Amino acid sequence: MVTWNPGGKGMWIRPLSVEDAAWLAPMAERVFAPLEVGYGAAVHQWATAPGGLGWVVEIKGTPVGFAVASRLGIAEEGASHLTELTAIGVAPEVRRAGVGRTLLAAVIRSARGEPGNLAIQLLVAEGNTAARALFRQAGFVEEGPDGTYPNGQTALRLRRGRR
Ligand SMILES: CC(C)(COP(=O)(O)OP(=O)(O)OC[C@H]1O[C@@H](n2cnc3c(N)ncnc32)[C@H](O)[C@@H]1OP(=O)(O)O)[C@@H](O)C(=O)NCCC(=O)NCCS
Repeated sequence: MVTWNPGGKGMWIRPLSVEDAAWLAPMAERVFAPLEVGYGAAVHQWATAPGGLGWVVEIKGTPVGFAVASRLGIAEEGASHLTELTAIGVAPEVRRAGVGRTLLAAVIRSARGEPGNLAIQLLVAEGNTAARALFRQAGFVEEGPDGTYPNGQTALRLRRGRR
């Protein structure tokens, strides 16, 4: 398995694998509890479905964060397509230490490396100031409202072009 050590400090990032299902479901449930979306086991299914991608950050061998994305519209080889970042989450006890930024950088690097990729898009809750700041810092632009989460919060559509 390919792993890499992005910034020292004992933080490692690697592709998500089938063995990650057991811890990922409870962590996704915990991380997204405020949105009442009930993601849980779905997050691992998205990562391992056709066109799915996933990354895990570990600190001292313990998984502390994940990012899951899907390639949209890639039915034909070489076709133009978008990458949808479906979920990114970091355990509350290690937040604000660069784990989210590391995961997002892996998603961006992967999309850039795909021939025909046009952009990365995602949805984020309007009240999620932490995530909105993370995405803004990484060059995402807010395009406007796009639906509502089960907890009633407006979902905003964000996009980051290929560059
Ligand atoms: C959003 C989330 C993934 C950020 O993870 P993180 O590891 O804490 O983020 P990082 O430490 O890499 O922060 C990178 C930048 O994001 C912004 N940021 C992160 N948390 C922030 C907060 N609580 N308030 C303001 N800005 C914040 C800052 O610009 C930060 O850079 P800085 O620390 O140099 O100022 C994490 O808070 C989380 O898991 N939230 C719950 C799940 C979620 O909302 N996911 C996103 C929607 S799918």
